[in-house]
Amino acid sequence: MGNTKKRPAKFLSALLLAPTIFLATFGIASAQEDEFYLDGKQPIEKRVDDLLSRLTLEEKVSLDHANSSLSTAGVPRLGIPELKMDDGPFGVGEEVGERFRVLNQTDDFATAMPSTLGLAATWNINLAFEFGAVIGQEAKQRGKNIMLGPAMNIQRTPLCGRNFEYMGEDPFLTSRTAVNYIEGEQAQGVFSCAKHFAANNQEYDRDSINEIIDERTLREIYLPAFRAAVQEAHVMAVMGAYNQVNGQYCCENQHLLNEILKDEWGFKGVVISDWGAVHHTDPAALNGLDIEMCSRPPFEKFNLANPFLEKLKTGKIPVSVLDEKVRRHLYVVFQLDLIHAPSGKNTIVSTAAQTPLSTKAHQEIARKVAEESFVLLKNKELLPLNVARLKTMAIIGGNAMAKFSYDGGSAKIKAPYEITALEGISNYLNGKAKIIYAKGYYPPDSSNSVPGDGSKLVAEAVAAAKSADAVVYVGGLNRKEGFDHEGWDRRDLKLPAGQDELLGKIVEANPKTVVVLIGGGAVEMGHAWLSRVPALLYAWYPGMEGGNALASVLFGDVNPSGKLPCTFPKKLADTPTTALDAYPGTNGTVIYKEGLLVGYRWYDTKKIEPLFPFGYGLSYTRFKYSKLKLVPDSNSKKSVTVEFELANTGGRAGAEIAEIYVQPVNPEVFRPLKELKGFRKVFLKAGEKQNVSVTLGADAFAYYDAGQKGWIAKEGEYKILVGSSSRDIRLDDKFKLR
Ligand code: GLC
Repeated sequence: MGNTKKRPAKFLSALLLAPTIFLATFGIASAQEDEFYLDGKQPIEKRVDDLLSRLTLEEKVSLDHANSSLSTAGVPRLGIPELKMDDGPFGVGEEVGERFRVLNQTDDFATAMPSTLGLAATWNINLAFEFGAVIGQEAKQRGKNIMLGPAMNIQRTPLCGRNFEYMGEDPFLTSRTAVNYIEGEQAQGVFSCAKHFAANNQEYDRDSINEIIDERTLREIYLPAFRAAVQEAHVMAVMGAYNQVNGQYCCENQHLLNEILKDEWGFKGVVISDWGAVHHTDPAALNGLDIEMCSRPPFEKFNLANPFLEKLKTGKIPVSVLDEKVRRHLYVVFQLDLIHAPSGKNTIVSTAAQTPLSTKAHQEIARKVAEESFVLLKNKELLPLNVARLKTMAIIGGNAMAKFSYDGGSAKIKAPYEITALEGISNYLNGKAKIIYAKGYYPPDSSNSVPGDGSKLVAEAVAAAKSADAVVYVGGLNRKEGFDHEGWDRRDLKLPAGQDELLGKIVEANPKTVVVLIGGGAVEMGHAWLSRVPALLYAWYPGMEGGNALASVLFGDVNPSGKLPCTFPKKLADTPTTALDAYPGTNGTVIYKEGLLVGYRWYDTKKIEPLFPFGYGLSYTRFKYSKLKLVPDSNSKKSVTVEFELANTGGRAGAEIAEIYVQPVNPEVFRPLKELKGFRKVFLKAGEKQNVSVTLGADAFAYYDAGQKGWIAKEGEYKILVGSSSRDIRLDDKFKLR
């Protein structure tokens, strides 16, 4: 369990008021007798059937494919509006035309939230709800019905170019973060779209790579977040991925779409393809795809358009297959309350021009997420910086002046502004100390080339460091192709543009150097500097308020509380996919040889020391764990409540993420050494103590048995580990599952 769910009242009241406002505002005509489907008092299923019966074959087919880059056609004569979609996971994308051509409108700026890998690093489920709600509110205002996010694929290799869009290496943390994000977004009256189903774990060859994944690994690692999105958050759209899984494209995959998603999990919404991810009409039609999306017209030529219509007319595919798709589409439309009397005026009026989209309140939430996402990886009495002792500060690094939100591929956001690290720090200092800026290195552009001679920049950076009382270095990666960008993977884990060497020279020139790294995951950290810098902070992609959030943490207004949602290995060779030569695959096929051993599961089981472990993060204060008590459920004995005391023993307020792992004792089947099955983020004043209680249900002990096609929580002994990170276990005890 994450921290306890405290739903902000304002979101729930908005939800309750929405239909009333909607009906009052748009004056939905009371349904005449013969327009049963318009009668909002009738059960949705019956309204769907009635409306379905009124559609022609051609109209039905028009509902199962795109009619523009980001929408499907409506049927105006029956009052069915277009379904309008937009990217993406960090905010509402700008308006585009065909082939995603940007329209450069002036009324479509949106709040650029931090990356969702950063959101996962907060381990704060209430913040995840607010994150989704911000995007949902702005999407509603922009007249969007389905937002194409959150992205929730598991980080299988730190090289994947879209890890910044995902939520890390662990299925449980990803599930909790995604469920709360979706609940927040859907509470605003728009639907989320869980993507990319399933196992879109690399960008290399993404359009066709065939991933060979054993069923147990699929179930225990790559599907849990999607299952939670469907069964807990009731997500109403799922996006089929580009890749193949076990020989079938995800958008044509009988096992994934029909057998698991729809039949087993009971998914009632629509399966939308990724853009251009459909290759064949029959398997797409028969294996569970509901809407084919792509940005490249002519839309009539899509697999689920005329070719499908032909097969329906000739009886090669029964119309019942089409009806199943249209029923889902109409179910979504009714759930969104979008049906209006055919004679009524268009009910969905974009209010973008009327009210500001990216409000101050939304920007404050973006800042809060960024502040809580930062992970303090090292601090030898340097942070927080004391402004009173600073006459001159050197801010060094290409990333200190860089903006990131409008890069990265489909996750890019056009924000009204973006505060860089340099701006945030100078805003904070406000003249109280002199700032010297030195670029230090040229951030590599999309061709990964470095524009210009770096040696001059290095000399300037060293000089700046020498002349300052303290240095804040801001480097790392960016969201250009080849680093953190859709469609590309990183080639290695190295800091680009000679930053390792540069950092060695900077810390030589001034030992009081804080290193801030921006990026979408692990980088190898050269010993030229890592052992010598006193402070290291990882900032992910912190969104439009990132610079202000960074200053708040550096100068101590905010105590950092983030923890790693993904392992930082010492070197690429230590990662499972490199060690097993299981990435990027050969001849179009990649075999998931590592199986369940993804992330810390690998490093723990193989006893490989990481640079910084999963779940690791420091604070400006200290926490003490004590009084562990395991209270088995009196009835089932299949669940246990983990109780312990957490105390803030330091001198200032802070938040601690207590992590709970389950470690089977002598399991009969192969199992990872330990797995995250609970966590709680606890905010404590200096000296404050709190009793923490987290219940682990039977599912916390279960593994998936592919032979029996089900989950098994085997009776026997399990260690319950309570820790500050996956490698810093503070309390443990044994529990006997009956
Ligand atoms: C892209 C991405 C997907 C995005 C879609 C629409 O190819 O894979 O995440 O939502 O197309 O832009």
